[in-house]
Amino acid sequence: MKIAEWTQKLKKNYLFQSVAEKVKSFKEKNPYANIINMGIGDVSLPICKSVVNSCIKSANEMGNIESFRGYSPNSGYDFLKKSIQQDYQDRNISLDLDEIFISDGAKSDMSNILDIFSSDNVCLIPDPVYPVYLDTSIMNGMTVKFINATEDNNFLPLPDLSVKSDIIYICSPNNPTGASYSKPELKLWVDYALSCDAVILFDAAYESFIEDDSCKSIFEVENSDLCAIEFKSFSKSSGFTGMRCGYSIVPKKLKRNGESLNSLWSRRHSTKFNGVPYIIQRAAEACLSTEGKKECSKFIKYYKENSKSISKTLDNLGIKYFGGKNSPYIWMKCINDMNSWEFFDYLLEKFQIVGTPGSGFGKNGEGFFRLSCFGSHENTLEACKRLENMKK
Ligand code: MLT
Repeated sequence: MKIAEWTQKLKKNYLFQSVAEKVKSFKEKNPYANIINMGIGDVSLPICKSVVNSCIKSANEMGNIESFRGYSPNSGYDFLKKSIQQDYQDRNISLDLDEIFISDGAKSDMSNILDIFSSDNVCLIPDPVYPVYLDTSIMNGMTVKFINATEDNNFLPLPDLSVKSDIIYICSPNNPTGASYSKPELKLWVDYALSCDAVILFDAAYESFIEDDSCKSIFEVENSDLCAIEFKSFSKSSGFTGMRCGYSIVPKKLKRNGESLNSLWSRRHSTKFNGVPYIIQRAAEACLSTEGKKECSKFIKYYKENSKSISKTLDNLGIKYFGGKNSPYIWMKCINDMNSWEFFDYLLEKFQIVGTPGSGFGKNGEGFFRLSCFGSHENTLEACKRLENMKK
């Protein structure tokens, strides 16, 4: 018996697990510390009224012989797919229902999608970025190349035509930097992917935070349906981190080596996944109703208030930062030449504030630090008050 080779290639812990372990050990030593967690991007507001009502209604349906349901259709119920289809149609993007696959979230989809590709592929991954892309590419035995996202390119790298790749991860708005691509910039990526027959895996988990004219979907770009798959999640837009629902859009026009990637994903999804619970799919449908959208947009507004408070504090302190506008994260520079993990320890020990070390998102994240804006106003303001005492 041999264990998988990737187990020897990855760091011991997933980034947020390392953070959680450090916090746990600090808590053991300081049981009365009032820790403010601005680390993992977990929401603090409860699900909205329309969603709660929908859950109650569908739970009752499940308890009634006439309306009880067993297995969900594998790729999701049509009622939810139709709401998603309409949501895209409102932005002039036409989708067929069988291009939409409902899942338990974007994180799993973005990892699982690699199952349909040969391990003999090169994955192009921005640095810094959400660590799941790198970890899962390694788990799937892919070769990884990085593309640098730095202050010099406003954290928005563009394709280098001399670099060949097969699978391109793009996260826009980017986690952790908050940088988001415009349509002309994404068109360059689409053109590049088409020129080398690559497939773009487009993570739009933070799309609902966009407040300028950045692209909200890769499918706004012409011909992207020939080279891209999009991943969305209800986690951050609708407070579903604990509810778990997301979806992927795999265009039927997308083919490689004569095979439809839509059919291959359907094959993979139906074999390894048994569908999202009916109650959760009804809850997700409620998020996309007129009332649900209105309520969820208030969440975004609420979290954006936090971004403003943190930005103001950092401005007063003269600390450089990015993000916070099209994303729920502030990407700040560590002070006094500390590296990311040193700064993590400093903030935890001195101010009992937890954030995420930038180096956990890639080597270009070294010297940076991510603060989540998903906390309560009260905690965020308290954190800002503590941060004001930071000495440069
Ligand atoms: C984040 O904070 O980057 C994400 O919420 C973490 C995750 O999805 O694993």
